[in-house]
Amino acid sequence: MARERVSNRQFPDAYILPPLSPEARLDPATAFGRQAPLEVDIGCGRGRFLLARATTNPGVNFLGVDQLLIRLRKLDRRAVEAGLANIRLLRSEAIETITTRIPAGAVDTCYVFFPDPWPKRRHHGRRLVSPAFLDGLDCILAPAGVVHLATDHADYFAAIQGILDRDSRFVRIAPFQPTEAEETDFGLIFRAQGLAVGRCSYAHRKLTPAT
Ligand SMILES: C[S@@+](CC[C@H](N)C(=O)[O-])C[C@H]1O[C@@H](n2cnc3c(N)ncnc32)[C@H](O)[C@@H]1O
Repeated sequence: MARERVSNRQFPDAYILPPLSPEARLDPATAFGRQAPLEVDIGCGRGRFLLARATTNPGVNFLGVDQLLIRLRKLDRRAVEAGLANIRLLRSEAIETITTRIPAGAVDTCYVFFPDPWPKRRHHGRRLVSPAFLDGLDCILAPAGVVHLATDHADYFAAIQGILDRDSRFVRIAPFQPTEAEETDFGLIFRAQGLAVGRCSYAHRKLTPAT
């Protein structure tokens, strides 16, 4: 893994949550200091999307998750500069986060924008959107919670839709279209390169066990 450069920071970490101890789950009410709907951006990167959403939705709590601290620190600084109080950031691995760190039923909306495509066939097992990821989503999403996904990679997009379309716990809904202000950092890059972007969204169907 590449070593992270430690930058000279003007701000201490403001919204980056302390690492969770091995068995601990996040308590959103404590982390945000209030009860509010929770939206989670998995692999939030530098957070252009999260900053825009948090600005226009002050009544919603936004959790950004990424494994790269250097990206979270840039986002943290921007959130402070923007005076946003409804963002929290967690440095954590995505699958571990949704399967063991976020409480069941806590998430109203989950965003997965431009996950690493792992284009080589022998690396497909590393792709984020997988059966384990869907099990995690099934756990953390509230009933009727939704997940929005986007990728520039046509093969991965087909795989994402296939795995979600086959899973009866999720039902396809109209794809989420970001506003100009909400386009992610990578979305802007891919648009500038003229790449087509696939977008799809699914609602969670809490299945009631047969009696
Ligand atoms: C291609 S970037 C997209 C960032 C952002 N969503 C955007 O659209 O600008 C993928 C992001 O996911 C993060 N990431 C990749 N694999 C991850 C994992 N297993 N757990 C947590 N974050 C991950 C990377 O650090 C990176 O910030």
